[in-house]
Amino acid sequence: MSAPDLRRAAAERALALVEPGMRLGIGTGSTAAAFIALLGDRVRAGLDVIGVPTSEATRIACEREGIRLATLDELPELDLTIDGADECDGQLRLIKGGGAALLREKIVAVASRRMVVIADAAKRVETLGAFPLPIEVNVFGLGATWRAVEAALAESGCAGKRITRRLDAAGAPLLTDGGHALLDAHLGRIPDPEGLSARLWAVPGVVEHGLFLGIADTAFLAEASGTQAVVT
Ligand code: A5P
Repeated sequence: MSAPDLRRAAAERALALVEPGMRLGIGTGSTAAAFIALLGDRVRAGLDVIGVPTSEATRIACEREGIRLATLDELPELDLTIDGADECDGQLRLIKGGGAALLREKIVAVASRRMVVIADAAKRVETLGAFPLPIEVNVFGLGATWRAVEAALAESGCAGKRITRRLDAAGAPLLTDGGHALLDAHLGRIPDPEGLSARLWAVPGVVEHGLFLGIADTAFLAEASGTQAVVT
């Protein structure tokens, strides 16, 4: 099975959870894009749902598919959020933000009764951290925040702690949908995700980080032999 086929297989499992009238959080990334395409088919066939997109890219994709949208201010409580992930461990702890949308993704997921992750099973890991951890920071005082983040990483027992600033496709410093900078922490492994999360949140200037802990309820992880469901 090709990578697009695996993404589609995971998205199909999530689509089966969508019921008429649901208020959906709609994720960002290539797997979420597969879900949006399938949802668009259902909407054109008459399914009535309303979605809150987790990024401008997702908003545009949903509009193209004719999916009715609202803001989270208009719909502060959602039934179900479907989103991808960069890594997922056996306790459904995630790294997200490879697509730079982690802040809105986390706000939307937490506003949902249920968050379902859809991914290629290659995203399943024993220990989080091989994927660089995205950390969204205010651009004011970036150098000082950067140093404080390095200290937080060291205190959290992360072995490697090289940090890079995310660039956009043109090679310029990337700004998120919220107008913030994005740092990527190359850690190798994160021995204590909860401890690292608390230390990062304590740094002034850190807006959000890509550790999603205790948020996801189910993950559909697709592999060639079938899609496994990981449930908390
Ligand atoms: C977006 O910011 C991310 O959190 C994505 O959900 C994550 O990067 C997964 O993307 P893919 O589905 O493209 O692998």
